[in-house]
Amino acid sequence: MSARIVRTVAELRAALAPHRADGVGFVPTMGALHEGHLSLVRTARAETAVVVLSIFVNPTQFGEAADLAAYPRTEDEDVALASAAGADLVFAPSVDEMYPTGFATTVSVGGALTATLEGAVRGRSHFDGVATVVAKLLVAVQPDRAYFGAKDAQQVVAVRRMVADLGLPVAVHALPTSRDADGLARSSRNARLSPAERELASVVPRALRRAQDAFADGLRDPRRLGAEVDAELAAAGLAAEYVEVVDADDLEPVDRVIRAALLAVAVRVGPVRLIDNVTLVPGVDDRISIEGRTS
Ligand code: PAF
Repeated sequence: MSARIVRTVAELRAALAPHRADGVGFVPTMGALHEGHLSLVRTARAETAVVVLSIFVNPTQFGEAADLAAYPRTEDEDVALASAAGADLVFAPSVDEMYPTGFATTVSVGGALTATLEGAVRGRSHFDGVATVVAKLLVAVQPDRAYFGAKDAQQVVAVRRMVADLGLPVAVHALPTSRDADGLARSSRNARLSPAERELASVVPRALRRAQDAFADGLRDPRRLGAEVDAELAAAGLAAEYVEVVDADDLEPVDRVIRAALLAVAVRVGPVRLIDNVTLVPGVDDRISIEGRTS
């Protein structure tokens, strides 16, 4: 059955009112759905009675106007895919519905959580845009559970902080990064890669995997782990915007990986900025699976 599309918060609330007590699951997206989003919908479907997926290309989280303009918009296809994966409602508001005239409030998550990694490159305003729209979406939907992908690890950490700080009654679930067979993290932006760029992009997961292999062999020095990533990228003619190893909880830099750390990378391939990450946990072997790789 096709999910019902609602465009306003009032319509959304009215549609959810009879089902509120049953449990609402929520998957926020900017559309251009891929398997990563659909796996979040399927998990929400299995865990909650009513599943809402939002599609809103949020202008306030884009730095470059060109990136916003080029962001793929495929609503009809998205609704069909979301429905098949088990969404009941698609909330697809207009920019005016989300940011009416006079809108003047920003939700800003401070500290290293938003100043490092993507925050250092894109500016804190990116995460202000994300936090503000996610807060608005959570207030609109009032879900019991909200589902995010671990590819945007810093977004997940910032959203968890915001939810805790504002006391929002929602459980935030981060599901493992969804990957293509060659290991590339799925992203709506991948659609903008040419076939040659798509091929080159597969170096990114291979670079992370090389660092994971070194970590599994006992390497704990963040600089040397980062150097493994850089070396793999350089061999393919790529250079990272950043490669960093930070604490998985507070995103502060670490001197040595003695507890869960995030190895995060950003690389530009053609017109697309790819971001990816893996978690390094001493004693845990959770390496990226790359088709055709024998070891
Ligand atoms: O991850 C995304 O797609 C977006 O940042 C989100 C969470 C939908 C907010 O616009």
